[in-house]
Amino acid sequence: MKRTQVAIVGAGPAGLLLGQLLHKEGIDTLILERRSAEYVGSRIRAGVLEPGTVDVLERAGVASRLHAEGLIHDGVEIGFRGQRHRIDLKALTGKGVTVYGQTEITHDLMNARAASGAPSVYEAEDVALHELAGTSPRVSYRHQGVAHEVACDFIAGCDGFHGVSRRSIPASVLKVFERVYPFGWLGLLADVPPPWHELIYANSERGFALASLRSPTRVRCYVQCSLEDRVENWSDEQFWDEFRRRIGDEMAARISNAPSIEKSIAPLRSFVAEPLRFGRLFLAGDAAHIVPPTGAKGLNLAASDVLYLYESLRSFYREKSERGLDEYSPRCLKRIWRAERFSWWMTSQLHRFPDDAFGRRMQETELEYLFESRAAQQSMAENYVGLPFEPMGGS
Ligand code: FAD
Ligand code: PHB
Repeated sequence: MKRTQVAIVGAGPAGLLLGQLLHKEGIDTLILERRSAEYVGSRIRAGVLEPGTVDVLERAGVASRLHAEGLIHDGVEIGFRGQRHRIDLKALTGKGVTVYGQTEITHDLMNARAASGAPSVYEAEDVALHELAGTSPRVSYRHQGVAHEVACDFIAGCDGFHGVSRRSIPASVLKVFERVYPFGWLGLLADVPPPWHELIYANSERGFALASLRSPTRVRCYVQCSLEDRVENWSDEQFWDEFRRRIGDEMAARISNAPSIEKSIAPLRSFVAEPLRFGRLFLAGDAAHIVPPTGAKGLNLAASDVLYLYESLRSFYREKSERGLDEYSPRCLKRIWRAERFSWWMTSQLHRFPDDAFGRRMQETELEYLFESRAAQQSMAENYVGLPFEPMGGS
């Protein structure tokens, strides 16, 4: 039977980043991914990185292109009643955020992994986890019709919300917290220079819209849509018409109907599974939690889980100490719940909820307060740029 120190399930940003950090520490890993490398490299998702996430990517040695091409944003805007209100992240917190697509991070991490020579198996089928409660777990899978089994010290479950890892934990052990929202986001990517300089999160009578970007020549835009909506039913023209009606007159006049490169619908969900550990299995990223994208926190949370897991494993191999491993789940959960709160708050304030006149007044009141109170802006800003990492050992 083959052997590795840490078997990583999933080659999304969480799995690839963990693999890179552990490789730099001299710890062997094997990454098993269900999809093809091309598929993983072409998924369009997140766009906003906290400074703490950039630090972790630097530590992994994969930040040079990010520094060359990433765009630093010192503020974000909230659109409401036809006006835009700027939240000055830099003045309020001393920090900004970096706009750099998850697709680019994935490419940088995949290239670094290929250069390191560390093994990855793409199109691994029927991945199954065994003997998690003991000290010698195993992972089995099939690749190109051949069955394989790998012995390891630890398994990192980085296989996203629909993966096998969380489902391998007995239901009696896992506590799940969930909220499903009655709408989704329809996203469109297009090659056109963005007329906006910073992201605009718009609460309009017709529903939420977000004006984002990927580069000085590429926009990423979203509109709140119904859960019954299908991408095929939205032409590019219909998307732009709806986006214009929500984003405010100035930007509506300045954005053209550029053809889409990609269009997709994502449902919105808040979800946390506790604890993030079962024996020798550790969950990280979307495998353990989902936030609605309104707070731009999903990828950033995946990066902080991975940093904590890396530090715990490093201390296990260097100092033979299990303390970091024991602390892993509670340490992650503190930051996870804060990001859940912020993402729920942003979602609640900016979307149109069906049949909720009281909720609408609450949104109006909350947003007016935000625009008038520096304290409220500071609270939003410090969450948006990302709360500090918890040190290991609680010190
Ligand atoms: P994933 O990216 O889901 O990767 C998991 C991997 O595991 C996948 O490659 C999958 O194929 C693989 N896998 C699944 N099952 C198996 C199996 N059985 N065996 C082997 N492999 C398996 N976050 C932000 O921080 N900022 C943003 O601005 C932002 N915007 C977003 C916008 C949208 C529209 C969406 C949908 C998400 C956004 N996010 C954002 C969230 C972010 O994209 C995710 O949180 C992030 O991808 C999580 O990374 P992950 O590696 O944990 O999971
Ligand atoms: C994106 O650019 O895809 C994006 C940006 C900010 C968000 C969500 C998504 O809150």
